Amino acid sequence: MKRWSVGILAVLVLILGMCALYATHMIRHGFSTRTPPSGVETTMATTMRDMAVPARYKTLKNPVPVTPEVIHEGLAHYADHCAVCHANNGSGDSMLGKGMYPRPPNLAGQETQSMSDGEIYYPIEYGIRLSGMPAFGDGGDNDIESWKLVAFLRHLPKLTPEEEAEMERLNPKGPDEMKEEMDEEKFLNGGDTSAQTTTMQKQKGHKR
Ligand code: HEC
Repeated sequence: MKRWSVGILAVLVLILGMCALYATHMIRHGFSTRTPPSGVETTMATTMRDMAVPARYKTLKNPVPVTPEVIHEGLAHYADHCAVCHANNGSGDSMLGKGMYPRPPNLAGQETQSMSDGEIYYPIEYGIRLSGMPAFGDGGDNDIESWKLVAFLRHLPKLTPEEEAEMERLNPKGPDEMKEEMDEEKFLNGGDTSAQTTTMQKQKGHKR
């Protein structure tokens, strides 16, 4: 046998072995998303994701001037669209986030914060395949709403308790909670229903 064919055979055996190992892991643990992803899975997924982000995003800076107003707009948008998975403080410790596979990372933590503006922008605009992270934009580099979210994500590590309390008020409400608030408002207005729209969630930022 030629030396190169031995090499190819060895690579094939290695790939088959890895597939067998992964299949055994799946059979043992099933498709449950309850257990956190293993180190190997996380490393493989993160490496593939990093490779999928086009290189020019690594050097892209936020084109939106970061003012308190911009951060506040990002905060309101995030509370409405993102907190359901990522939690208001970015920890991922939300009802949905805890059961996802892969889990949403801690957006206030070192790993996300050490990414460039463009690298944070990219998953917001384009989503992350084979994960729960949806695309919120229509593509391109100039989605102002996504850049405002990047500005807010940079602010996450400095989030104040007051800001978190405001976000709680902005979080989407379920039908029961909404009805409860409406009834309360109706009671406070002495039966006047005209003010009810104030509790309805208004769409902020992205359409999705
Ligand atoms: C339905 C759940 C869900 C929603 C809603 C969601 N995300 Fe995510 N997000 C995820 C998951 C899960 C991941 C991790 C994906 C992975 O590890 O590959 C993620 C990853 C990310 C990342 C990459 C962070 C990193 O360190 O790699 C960013 C940035 C992000 N989300 C921002 C947002 C923003 C901003 C919004 C709202 C506009 C949002 N997400 C809405 C589930 C969600």
